[in-house]
This record gives sequence, C-alpha cells and structure tokens, in this order.
Amino acid sequence: MAEFTVDPFADRYARRAAGMSASEVRALFAVASRPDVVSLAGGMPFVEALPIEHVVEVAEAVLLERGDVALQYGAGQGSELLRRRLAMLMAQEGTEADPEDLVVTTGAQQALDLVGKILIDPGDAIVVEAPAYVGALSAFSAYEPRILQVDLDDDGMVVEQLEDLLVRGERPKFVYTVPNFHNPAGVTMSRGRREQLVALCREARVPIIEDNPYGLLRFEGDPQPTLRSLDPHNVVYLGTVSKVFSPGVRVGWAVAEPGVLQRLVLAKEAADLCGSQLNMLITERYLDGEAWRRNLEGLVETYRRRRDVMLAALPERFPADAEWTRPAGGFYVWVSLPEYFDTPTLLAAAVERKVAYVPGTAFYPDGRGRQQMRLSFCYPTEARIEEGVKRLGELLADEEELYRSLSR
Ligand SMILES: Cc1ncc(COP(=O)(O)O)c(C=O)c1O
Repeated sequence: MAEFTVDPFADRYARRAAGMSASEVRALFAVASRPDVVSLAGGMPFVEALPIEHVVEVAEAVLLERGDVALQYGAGQGSELLRRRLAMLMAQEGTEADPEDLVVTTGAQQALDLVGKILIDPGDAIVVEAPAYVGALSAFSAYEPRILQVDLDDDGMVVEQLEDLLVRGERPKFVYTVPNFHNPAGVTMSRGRREQLVALCREARVPIIEDNPYGLLRFEGDPQPTLRSLDPHNVVYLGTVSKVFSPGVRVGWAVAEPGVLQRLVLAKEAADLCGSQLNMLITERYLDGEAWRRNLEGLVETYRRRRDVMLAALPERFPADAEWTRPAGGFYVWVSLPEYFDTPTLLAAAVERKVAYVPGTAFYPDGRGRQQMRLSFCYPTEARIEEGVKRLGELLADEEELYRSLSR
C-alpha cells in the first residue's frame, strides 16, 4: 500500500474538486461488504437472477457477428437501433419518444453529470427533493450550484413548497425529481402532483429533469404517466437499463428537445467520445425479442417478495414510534426514527452487529437526515432481510433502553 504523504497537489485543486471527499460512511461500506454482514445499504440489482447462459449467447453473437463494430469507436449519440430499443422501454410506461431525441450515456449517472455540465453555472439555484438521490447531489455539486430542497410526502414532491420558492423570487435552473419509487424515499408521485408540477414549471419556465430508473419495477397499482409524456418540451427524461437488465453494461440515456440534446451529445463526446460499443451492442441484442420481458417479470416478482418480507419484519422488530414508507416498486424503504436516534453515529455499532444501512444524512446536502435511514431490499435474500431487520431492531431497542435509562 502507498505510504501516507502530504498531498503535493493540496493547494492546486479547483474549487469544485476541493469539496470532493469520500464520507466516513464509504469506509464503513468496505466492512459492510463482508459476507457475514447483511447489507441493507447498497442499491445493487439482483443480477444473479439473470439467465447467464442467455447473456453469454448474446455477447458471443455480438462479438462473432459484429466484432468489427463492437471493438471500434462509435457515434456519440449511440446507434440508431439501440436508441429504438430504449425508446421501446419508455413505451412500456406509455411514453412516446423519438429515437432521434435520445442520447445514450454511460449509465444515467453520466446523464446527470452532463445535465449539470450544460445547465449549471457556479452559484445557480437548482431544486432537488429532500431527501435526494445521493449520486445526483454529487454529480450536480461538482458544478457548484446553490441546492434548494423541496420536501417529499407519500405523494411525492410537495409542489406547494416549490411554488413558495418561486413566489419568493428564486429562479432555479431546473427541478430534479425521481417520480417513481424514489431513491431513497420509496414514494411515488401521484397523478395530481405530476400535473401540478408540470403546469407550475411550464408557467415559470423552469425545466424538469425526470430521473426514472425504477419505473418498470412496479409491484402493484397502475403506472403513472411520466412527466415527459405530460410535457415533452419542458422535461429532460433520464433512463437506464441498470435496474431492468444490468448495471455492469453502463447503458443509460437522456431524451430531450433538439437544442438540449445537441449540447448533451457534445458534452458526452467531450467526456468520453462514445460509450462502450461492445456493451451497447450487447444491450441492443438483449432487448431484442421477448426473453428480457420474462426475465424482468421474474425480477419484479423477486423484489416484490423481498419488499413484503421487509415490510412484515419492520413492525415486529423496530421501535413502536418508528415510521417508514411503503414502496409500490423499486428498491428502497425510508425509515424515520424518534429524535434520540442518530443514524450516522449508529452505523458503526450496526456494522459491528453485522448489518448495514445508509444513514439519512447522505441524502441531504445540509446535514439533515440524522433520524432517517435508507433500507434496501433489492439484493439480500428474504431470509437475510429478516435477519438484517432483526439485528437492526435489536440495536435500536438497546439504544432506546439506554436513552430511557439516561433520561430517567
Ligand atoms: C435515482 C437514480 N438515478 C440514477 C442512478 C444511476 O444509475 P446508472 O446505473 O444508470 O448510472 C441511480 C442508481 O442507483 C439511481 O438510483
């Protein structure tokens, strides 16, 4: 291992890089990935459920039949056929998208970075949800915005709060939202809120960035219209195959009106010239035919059962005055604890007891979230979820006991 030295670049970093640091949470996650620790922390899709022989066949066929293309540079926007397949995925949720308006990115994460790059000047206000997807906070933060947060409730973003911000004179560059099965909150924006948000933003001329990685992982209820389908001119839509196929191929996309799209493509080309042709061809072929649908149905069923196990275990194991969301899809349950718990501090003790979660503070740029935690049910088996919730419940019970004896 490299010896520790004073960083000779310490006074050379750009302002945006000076603020980049791995949190202490990251260090704990290294421990949390040990097999004896039940991790309710990560948002890793259960890729073990993929029919690996089928993926091998697909990859082999791509290399044998299209090796010259797969191993070469490609177009910055991504191939037309892949863009058609990705538009087909959007059609599953009732959203029409012209493949011409779509750019393939290296995961939705790159699309978030490109959005920040083309829209944010230092000091610009942007609006995100409270809590917000941690990866969006880090992607946007690099461009030095002033981040304003709008609360979520069981119906998604509280649009009245956004309206208040606008009335107070804020002019955000954009509003970023995860309307379906929110990461980390698990909630889904209601139809009414969607219409309200789209109408407000259209009138105030504030673009919406709609990030929808989980929309096809619905366990129950009717799909809601995407924001993009309600107002294509004012919404930039981000998608990914990470949760419906594989995060390893790093294929995501953005759909936007021509002016925005052109800048996204230019920014993408400046970042990496083009995505991995090999991975894009594999994805294109995987999404051809019907097998992917069956695989997805199986995955959704697995996640639904895991969600059920977590939701059944929580009331048995957690303190009586804890509250949590009931996701109708996706990966995450968001837990709120009484004020005497401190989730960032508790994490070390949790890992000692061989269970991990993400403290709520990760999802706010301003230090809030100390009584919240994100629990994910996507990766561990049902038995491990039960065990993980049990271990966490025991820890919380001990903490509660300690608090009560001290305050007596
Ligand atoms: C809300 C949200 N947006 C974007 C991403 C990034 O996904 P990708 O793997 O496509 O980069 C994730 C990943 O967990 C996510 O939860």
